[in-house]
Formats: sequence, C-alpha cells, structure tokens
Amino acid sequence: MKTLVIASHPYPDQSVVIKALQRSAASLADVEVRNLEALYGNDSAAFDIAAEQAAVEAAERIVFLFPIHWFNLTPMLKAYMNQVWTYGWAFGPNGTALKGRELLAVVTAGATAFTYSAEGLIQSTIEDVLTPLKASALYVGMRYAEPLAFYEAMGAAGDKLEGFVGRFTGALAG
Ligand SMILES: Cc1cc2nc3c(=O)[nH]c(=O)nc-3n(C[C@H](O)[C@H](O)[C@H](O)COP(=O)(O)O)c2cc1C
Repeated sequence: MKTLVIASHPYPDQSVVIKALQRSAASLADVEVRNLEALYGNDSAAFDIAAEQAAVEAAERIVFLFPIHWFNLTPMLKAYMNQVWTYGWAFGPNGTALKGRELLAVVTAGATAFTYSAEGLIQSTIEDVLTPLKASALYVGMRYAEPLAFYEAMGAAGDKLEGFVGRFTGALAG
C-alpha cells in the first residue's frame, strides 16, 4: 500500500527511537517519509501546504509517527493538521481529499503498558489518549487503524529497539 509517513519529534538531537523507526520506514519500497522538523524546523507558519497536500494525495495510507509528550501530539504535528487539513480540501464543500485513506498512528511512550490501562496511573489507554486524532480522522472520512504503541521506549537499544523496528516495518508491510 502506498504509504506516507509524517514523522515529527520536537527534539531531534535527543531522539533515539523515533529516529530509528523513521530510518527503517525510509528504506521500504512504496513509503515516503516526511519529517516535519527536518523540513520546517519548529516554524508552524512555514508549511509548504501545496507540497504536503500533494504528498497525501499520492498515498493510500498516512502514518503519523511521533513520541507521546504530555499525552499529546507534538506541536508541529498539530500545526500540520491545522494548516494542511484545510476547509475545502479535507472537509467542507468539495473537501474530500482524505476520504477513504487510512490513518495509522505509531507512537513511542516512556511509560509502561500498565500505565496506559484502566487500572494504571493515568486510567487511560493509548486509544483514549489519541481520541482527538481518531475523531479528526473520522471527521474527514478516513479509516482509523488501531494505533501501534511502543511503551517504555526511552533510551531503547539493542534487541528491544530491533523488536520495535521489526513490529513497525511488519505493520507497514501489511
Ligand atoms: C517533554 C517530554 C514529555 C514526555 N511526556 C510523556 C508522556 O506524557 N507519556 C509518556 O509515556 N512518555 C512521555 N515522555 C517520554 C517520551 O515519550 C519517550 O522518551 C520517547 O517517546 C522516546 O522516543 P525518542 O527516543 O524518539 O525520543 C516525555 C518525554 C519528554 C521529553
């Protein structure tokens, strides 16, 4: 499936896991990777909206790849949605560009899987945390895939990191 990976990390120099996942995606056929901070820094007014929309139109599946920071999207990913998913393109009259495409969220999180459970500290699953993304995807007519989450990701290395990469590339191949 032709896939566009929109990767975002506000602190690229500190990133280990998102960086490794991004690199693995870029090596796959039929996958285009666009890293928002690499393209635009942290300037939420700098998006090349036409180029971003064209990249979406060329893909059947859109993957958002980002770390969970304060149980949220990264600032540039939120800005991307604000500016690229526009009225008349993504929604509103004639706004059907995203309709029928798939949205897959792939996230890394420092906390444990148990923390992200009804019994855990935050009493919320990763699906709960990503509710605004699910609502946005459904609002514009996308198919919302079950998110892929990598827990206890901080500083992952060796077999653990390889395991994350394997699960991620396996999901992209499916
Ligand atoms: C500012 C900041 C906020 C964070 N907030 C969360 C959080 O809300 N939940 C969580 O599970 N991990 C949190 N973490 C941990 C990161 O999610 C984790 O270190 C990251 O996903 C690992 O990927 P990376 O190596 O690409 O940075 C936070 C880390 C930072 C730096």
